[in-house]
Amino acid sequence: MDRIRNPFSPGAGSPPPELAGRDSILAQAQVLFGRIRAKRPEKSLLMTGLRGVGKTVLLNEMERMAMASGYRTILVEAHENKSLAILLVPHLRRILFELDRIAGTGNKVKRGIAVLKSFIGGIKVTVGDVEFGLDIDPERGAADSGDLEVDLPNLFTAVAEAAEERGTAVAILIDEIQYFNSTELSALIMAMHKMQQRQLPMTLVGAGLPILPGLAGESKSYAERLFNFPDIGPLPEPDAVKALKDPIDAAGEAIEPSALREIFQMTKGYPYFLQEWGYQAWNHAGTSPISLRDVSETTELVIRRLDENFFRVRFDRLTPREKQYLRAMAELGPGPHRTAEIADTMRAKITTLGPVRASLIKKGMVYSPSHGDMAFTVPLFDEFMRRAMPRFER
Ligand SMILES: Nc1ncnc2c1ncn2[C@@H]1O[C@H](COP(=O)(O)OP(=O)(O)OP(=O)(O)O)[C@@H](O)[C@H]1O
Ligand SMILES: [Mg+2]
Repeated sequence: MDRIRNPFSPGAGSPPPELAGRDSILAQAQVLFGRIRAKRPEKSLLMTGLRGVGKTVLLNEMERMAMASGYRTILVEAHENKSLAILLVPHLRRILFELDRIAGTGNKVKRGIAVLKSFIGGIKVTVGDVEFGLDIDPERGAADSGDLEVDLPNLFTAVAEAAEERGTAVAILIDEIQYFNSTELSALIMAMHKMQQRQLPMTLVGAGLPILPGLAGESKSYAERLFNFPDIGPLPEPDAVKALKDPIDAAGEAIEPSALREIFQMTKGYPYFLQEWGYQAWNHAGTSPISLRDVSETTELVIRRLDENFFRVRFDRLTPREKQYLRAMAELGPGPHRTAEIADTMRAKITTLGPVRASLIKKGMVYSPSHGDMAFTVPLFDEFMRRAMPRFER
């Protein structure tokens, strides 16, 4: 079949030809944007889920929805080595300048810029060569205490008040939110708390690996009141079928029901895998309809490609000890697994494994769904580990 017309799009953040099974989360975001603009309270969204389930795709879609609802938007991706402040400052600056260009009276925009200058003074860094162009002095004391949990809420308040004055609203969308440290997460939570108390038109949509279990104490109880944590998971069979079949139909071709069933079984409904199987099955099939045999014949190739592209990049960043830990988890199956049981499997004392667990969490390879449990962040990673390291040596 014609490769150029292949509709599937395996790849990080690549919009799928059919965004299947996500209507209700998108509707939830639409309500959030509508309510915040109307100054009605609504919980912000933190979407969490494993690798390749479609979080980035949803975040991009939600940014489009926010823009269509009249929002000014900021979309950023957190990194292991970049602070929240450095990430946000250039965007907040851009928004304030956009607001300044909207006709209106009042001094809230100018104040917003002064508070941002104060904030930058507080974090004591130069963000590029911050040229403000407007002759405004920093508002001393507004957001420069150096304590992010105080300064960030003050900064957000000033920006949101400026947006309100110009009759608009601000949506901040953050991907890979698990990379923030606990102070940064807690500052974000405090900032959103202030937005809610003052009914200011600013909202947050985040996406990342599951983080809620890792939040502690006060932050956690705040977070539960201020955010919804929708779990983005694999697609149930009818949606997975739609994700494959509709794009093929739309291209004027066909696929047999048995072929669809086989792909669902192999992928367990994980969106990234659906795209990869769909893509290869299309290319492999001689003529329409794509048959069960076409799918079976591509499975080996797809698994090889997944190993090379999706799994291997993560595997290569691991130390030998980390690999051994993951291999022990894989020995026990898909998971989650008790940390004690993993230690037993390795014939090691559970206490000596603390550091390797911590570094695997930091690298985003595993997370703790509940106390004493460990799970892979990458779907089907146990199968990959057994392929990559066939023999398990204790
Ligand atoms: N609802 C969906 N239906 C079909 N395919 C989808 C759906 N959502 C995402 N995809 C596809 O899945 C793949 C992964 O999507 P995306 O990069 O958004 O995942 P992610 O959750 O952000 O992954 P990661 O945690 O690795 O960043 C892409 O190829 C995308 O086209
Ligand atoms: Mg992503």
